[in-house]
Amino acid sequence: MPSPFSVDKPHDSRYRRRTQGDILETLIYRLKKSGIWNADLEWRVRALWKYGIEPISDPRLRSTIEGFLLLVPLAFFTDHASRSGNFHPPWQNVAHGTFLSIVESCVLLPGWARHVPEILDAGKNPSQRAIDLGLAATIVSDCWKKEDYGDIHHGTDHGRVAAEHWVRFATSAGLDRDTIERVAEASVMHMGVYAPDWKQGTKLSPIAALVNLPDVATSLPQLRLIYRNATVIR
Ligand SMILES: [Fe+2]
Repeated sequence: MPSPFSVDKPHDSRYRRRTQGDILETLIYRLKKSGIWNADLEWRVRALWKYGIEPISDPRLRSTIEGFLLLVPLAFFTDHASRSGNFHPPWQNVAHGTFLSIVESCVLLPGWARHVPEILDAGKNPSQRAIDLGLAATIVSDCWKKEDYGDIHHGTDHGRVAAEHWVRFATSAGLDRDTIERVAEASVMHMGVYAPDWKQGTKLSPIAALVNLPDVATSLPQLRLIYRNATVIR
């Protein structure tokens, strides 16, 4: 018998449409009211819904992530991706850059999922459940890099800070414990070997590995050489 959170269980499209529309509209209202809404942020928010949220097939996980986004610091929506400017490609080191890096990681994640052996079935198709958890953890992982008040940056601990907020929120929202904890664990470890608790011999969980590579691949400053055609020697 499939678990109530099984991806095999078809979700109710009316429920999906209603919750999706309500929460997105509420978020847009919050961002407008706080004075940070503009056309640039609008296309990024809509891109997150298209590539990060709508592909989560579990309706309870999807609506919990949507609700979580109503509570995260506004800095998540406005910040540059790299405080020093030394990391991330240049298009992420501008306003809304952290947010864009998350959208880009979500875009890559389902494709990368085809290369994580532990989540593949006999036909080498990735588990939709793993993709759901990976997308959710990707979104959660960078939500608390910075607080809105005071000059507080959480540095390499930001995945853990976000996970602690996530666990509290998702528990109060009634999400099941296994889903909450697997998303939290992957958020804590999303930086892979640069996660604070990683040491030689630490093996990433399959979901953390699924989240880690897109996170790294979209944040490499060397991407500038590829996408700005700078590899041509003149
Ligand atoms: Fe991060």
